[in-house]
Amino acid sequence: MTTSGYSVLGPEIVKDLHDPRRDFAYEVLVGLSEKPKRLSSKYFYDDAGSRYFQQIMGLEEYYPTRCEEEILRRSAEAIVAPLLDGRPINLVDLGAGDGKKTMILIEELRRVGADFTFVPIDISEGAMKELVGKIRVQMPDVSVEGLVCEYADGVHHLARVAGERRNLVLFLGSNIGNFGRVRANAFLRRLWSSLRAGDYALVGFDLKKDIEVLLAAYNDKSGVTSAFNLNLLERINRELGGDFDVSTFRHFGTYNVFSGAMESYLVSLVPQVVTIAALELSFAFDAWEPIHTEYSYKYLRSDITRLAAGSGFSVQRDFEDERGWFVDSLWRAEHTIAAPTPER
Ligand code: AVJ
Repeated sequence: MTTSGYSVLGPEIVKDLHDPRRDFAYEVLVGLSEKPKRLSSKYFYDDAGSRYFQQIMGLEEYYPTRCEEEILRRSAEAIVAPLLDGRPINLVDLGAGDGKKTMILIEELRRVGADFTFVPIDISEGAMKELVGKIRVQMPDVSVEGLVCEYADGVHHLARVAGERRNLVLFLGSNIGNFGRVRANAFLRRLWSSLRAGDYALVGFDLKKDIEVLLAAYNDKSGVTSAFNLNLLERINRELGGDFDVSTFRHFGTYNVFSGAMESYLVSLVPQVVTIAALELSFAFDAWEPIHTEYSYKYLRSDITRLAAGSGFSVQRDFEDERGWFVDSLWRAEHTIAAPTPER
C-alpha cells in the first residue's frame, strides 16, 4: 500500500519513498569534490553501521549510553509525570535505534496505565524491523507505528498526524550533537512548528567534560569506532560501486576545544585514486588527506537553556546522571516562538 510518499511494509512499519540511493550518490559526489573532503555522518547508519553503533553503545569507553540509561531509570517517573492528565500520548522516538533506552520510559508508561502509542523513527530499516519485532513479542499490548525515514521527514510526519494526542518527542543520546549550532537551532524550530503548545520534548545533551574521557570514547581500544567510521567507505563500495581499499585509510577522532565538538575523520595513508562506478567519476587523494565524517558537539548547561528558548520551548527540568556528564532536558512547547536569534 502506498500513501503520499510512504509505503506500508507491515501493519506497524511505514517506509518513505524518497530515493535514498540517489541522495547518497549526490552527497558523496559533492562531499568528495570539496576541499577539505567531507561526508555526512547521517550515512553511517545503514544496517551494518547501525549494528556497529549498537556495539559502540556497549563499549567500556562510550559513557553516554550508560549515563543516559542511569538518568532514565532514576527519573522515568518524574519525566512522564507532566503528561499524565488522561490525554492519550504519542511517544515519538527520533533515531530510536535498538530502542533499549526508550524501553525504560515505555515500561513506566505501562506501569502507570497510560494510553500511549509508540512511534519510533529511524533511518535504518534493519534496526526498525528488529525493534518492532521485539516489542510485538515482549509487549504485545503496546501499539507501535514505526517510521523508516530521516529526522526531517519524521518531524514532517508528526505535523500531518496532529490529533488530540499529546506528543512526547524523544531526541536522546545527544543525537542533536551531530548538528552544528545553526542547524541544531533550525531543526529544533522545525520540530516546534510540528508540535502544539503543551507537547513535550526530551532532549539528550552530552556535556563538556574531561577531554581524556571524550577522546577515549571516540577512539576505543577495540577499534569498533574505527570500524564504524570506515563502514562509510564500505557503504560507498557496496551501494555505489566504489573501489575504496579501507586498509589504506585510518580513523582519527579529535576534540576541538574551541568549537566544542568531537570531530571524526578518515585519513588516506597513501596517495591514491578511488573510482565510484555509480558516479562514473574518480577522486584523487594525497597522502594524509582527510575526509571529515562527523561532529559530536558537547554542551555547557547554559547552552541548553539558550537552545530551548531560541526554538519555542521552555525547560521544565534537567535530569542528569550522578557524575554530571549528561543531561536529559525536558522541554515544553510554548505558544509562540521568539524571532530568530543571531547565532554566534
Ligand atoms: C549517535 C550521534 C550520538 O556522536 O556520540 C558514536 C555517534 N560516533 N561514536 C555520537 C558516534 C562515534 C553518536 N551519536
